[in-house]
Amino acid sequence: MEKGIEVIFDGFFKYHKQDFYVEEIPAEIIAENYGTPCYVYSKNSLLSRISSFKNAFRSVNSLVCYSVKANSNQTILKILKKKGFGADVVSGGELHRALLAGFPPERIVFAGAGKKEDEIELAVRKKIYCFNIENEEEISMIEKYACRYRRKNILCNLRLNLDIDVDTHHYVKTSTKETKFGLDIFAAKDILKKNMGNRYVNIKGFHLHLGSQLKDVSPYMRAFKEVRHLSDETGFRPEIIDIGGGFGIAYSSKDVISNIDAFGETITRSIRDMGIKTLILEPGRYIVGNTAVLLCKVLYVKKRQGKNFVIVDAGMNDLIRPAFYGSYHTIIPARKNVKAGGWMKADIVGPICETGDYLGKDIVVPDSVKKGDILVVASAGAYCFSMSSNYNSRPRPCEVMVDGKKSCLIRKRESYSDLWKHES
Ligand code: LLP
Repeated sequence: MEKGIEVIFDGFFKYHKQDFYVEEIPAEIIAENYGTPCYVYSKNSLLSRISSFKNAFRSVNSLVCYSVKANSNQTILKILKKKGFGADVVSGGELHRALLAGFPPERIVFAGAGKKEDEIELAVRKKIYCFNIENEEEISMIEKYACRYRRKNILCNLRLNLDIDVDTHHYVKTSTKETKFGLDIFAAKDILKKNMGNRYVNIKGFHLHLGSQLKDVSPYMRAFKEVRHLSDETGFRPEIIDIGGGFGIAYSSKDVISNIDAFGETITRSIRDMGIKTLILEPGRYIVGNTAVLLCKVLYVKKRQGKNFVIVDAGMNDLIRPAFYGSYHTIIPARKNVKAGGWMKADIVGPICETGDYLGKDIVVPDSVKKGDILVVASAGAYCFSMSSNYNSRPRPCEVMVDGKKSCLIRKRESYSDLWKHES
């Protein structure tokens, strides 16, 4: 049984005696009222993450653009917008979602290695704040639509691939030369030279997103060093640096992640030293990751010699991170059976017809665990609902937000007919 869950959760998720609460509501009651599987967000936990992030970067001129891919629910986006965040989008769909939530276009940045022409047109037409350029051909497309919509000086940053290795899962490293992202130094120099007097495309700086779930600030420092070299070599003085996202969170009580204030302080100091006017940040996971849990119900317990399985009603279609990256999520019971005493190790698996369909391996659970019990999968706010699918023709779970003693549905559970509504 996971000890020290306070490392993962802030005070808004905790046990009161034997019951696990989201703010002031027992998880079992939420499961009863809304059914399972069910994503449950704590509004006050989200507000607290927003303010700790803002606070960490308060002493530098910055634009914080929440990375919509982490969780794109309209209620969450609207809360972030209200708190003054901008949005980092990577597709026409995310741009539309951000605009629908009310983010002002002048606070929206657009990244992505495969921007489609219609997406570039949409972003030019909607007058977003800036493009993060990953390919020289994007520039000519931006010029084309700048001409068509009579716009000049469209702000762009060059996304650099500085071949910097980072300590994270290899699927979410984005700045080594093996990855598809960004421009190498030679391409960047060439683009800077060619576009010096460009009246449509105004290159003001660099975008450096290095990877996700980074544990400390050191890779960013290496990136800044490279930027200084590039600047010395070309004479180009960046006004803007967008460091992307990547700030890690604890998934287990053993995870050691640098504190956000220390992160902020080191980055702020370097940004000042480099004479940068505006720092752009694109946090996703840090903001929402630990502000939600996934509640699921035990369907069966299968005990075999040497191997136990707890089969629950949430699967890899609902939360794919363990199956896809081998990620660890803390899983705890919604009600601790204080009398039971004994514990067992079990794989927490879903109902999907794949061996890789698991939420946790060798998880310590009460050995009294039985059909109908509710389990809580922690750290389910980022890249969980947003990566869910209908695989095995399973309707997606509902999403609920808790605020103190109140709860409300922020996305209803999909129905069976939703599964085929687009088919002919
Ligand atoms: N900016 C850019 C350009 C990005 O590609 C990403 C994430 C972010 C910002 C936000 O990064 P964050 O602050 O959330 O680390 N599905 C994976 C994570 C993929 C991250 C993709 N890019 C996972 O579940 O771990």
